[in-house]
Amino acid sequence: MIPLAIPDLTGNEAKYLQECVTSTFVSSVGAFVNRLEEMVAALSGAAYAVATSAGTTGLHAALIAAGVERDDLVILPSFTFIGSANAIAHCGAMPYLLDVNKDTWTLDPESLAKVLSGTDKKNGKVYHRQTGRRIAAVMPVHVLGIAADMDGIVRAAKEHNLPVVADGAAALGTIYRGRKIADTGADLTVFSFNGNKTVTAGGGGAICGNDASLVQLARHLTTTARVGADYDHDRIGFNYRMTNLQAAVGCAQLERLSEFVEKKRRIQATYANALTGLSGVLPFPDPAYGKSACWFSGFTLRNGKMESGELRKSLRERGVDARPFWKPIHLQVPFGGCPREELGVTDELWSTLVTLPCSTSLSNADQSTVIKHVQELLG
Ligand SMILES: Cc1ncc(COP(=O)(O)O)c(C=O)c1O
Repeated sequence: MIPLAIPDLTGNEAKYLQECVTSTFVSSVGAFVNRLEEMVAALSGAAYAVATSAGTTGLHAALIAAGVERDDLVILPSFTFIGSANAIAHCGAMPYLLDVNKDTWTLDPESLAKVLSGTDKKNGKVYHRQTGRRIAAVMPVHVLGIAADMDGIVRAAKEHNLPVVADGAAALGTIYRGRKIADTGADLTVFSFNGNKTVTAGGGGAICGNDASLVQLARHLTTTARVGADYDHDRIGFNYRMTNLQAAVGCAQLERLSEFVEKKRRIQATYANALTGLSGVLPFPDPAYGKSACWFSGFTLRNGKMESGELRKSLRERGVDARPFWKPIHLQVPFGGCPREELGVTDELWSTLVTLPCSTSLSNADQSTVIKHVQELLG
């Protein structure tokens, strides 16, 4: 089977892991953790970064640092991985689900502004009219490495005094209007280093931002809210730090970020050139305001003859690991009852999306094989 997305660990990963073991620094303090934080900050355009045990835990700590509390709502596009919604739920809050823009597959600034203009305001806070719950934050998602249109999103959020916590899980390397993705107006941006990401640490995440005290608060929360060197803790915190072992792998991967992102972009462009002539096949978007990091590749299928699920099944029978993409949050059991707006674009994406093999180690021959099978099945 040509796999969907597997890591390339042929750089310094083994060497750095051996250094960790030799040094005995295998836990959540160590030179690689510090180095990873410096590298992620520089690569994402942020002044500061905090390494975390996962993207989900990073989002959870970031939301709490941004002021999200029990019973609040956080505005979230329904077209995202369940980790974004789980992080909101871990705060005792609930996602308020919005649709994505059909051309960018990310949160639409105009819909956001419209939704926010229809809210109630009291003492500088914003309340959802139907449920009476406070809206505490906005969480755009840089889906698939495509930047959300941050200027409009941040403008709408700030007009209502709302913090923006961006889910940039797969967006390290993404550019938005000439800026790196954590320097685009969000208060905090969170990345994931899960195994299927363009760069992995085995598992892990990072919270990035430009406000020193906010990032320091996030760091404090991830480190059991410990004060000083002894066992004093000033609030309920979390054990969410990345280990030095994870960071060793992460540093080796980050050294190759630009090479990996270039490869991902080439893979996506090759699929787009070869397949978009086929009836009903449309490529993943890459809006002109930025440059996608092209985490995953694939297309949407609307040809009226073959359903995307049938195509994926046939491809898998031919040894090509084609998959669906995220089932939207409003269709997930734990989140079916969340407040939401019309979600037509999201529903359509869920039923038409096909993802194709896109490992950074994908050979030209294997990509040609994938293309040949898609062409035969849809030709
Ligand atoms: C959009 C999005 N949000 C959140 C996450 C959660 O990250 P993690 O798996 O590192 O917890 C992921 C990836 O897995 C993701 O793709």
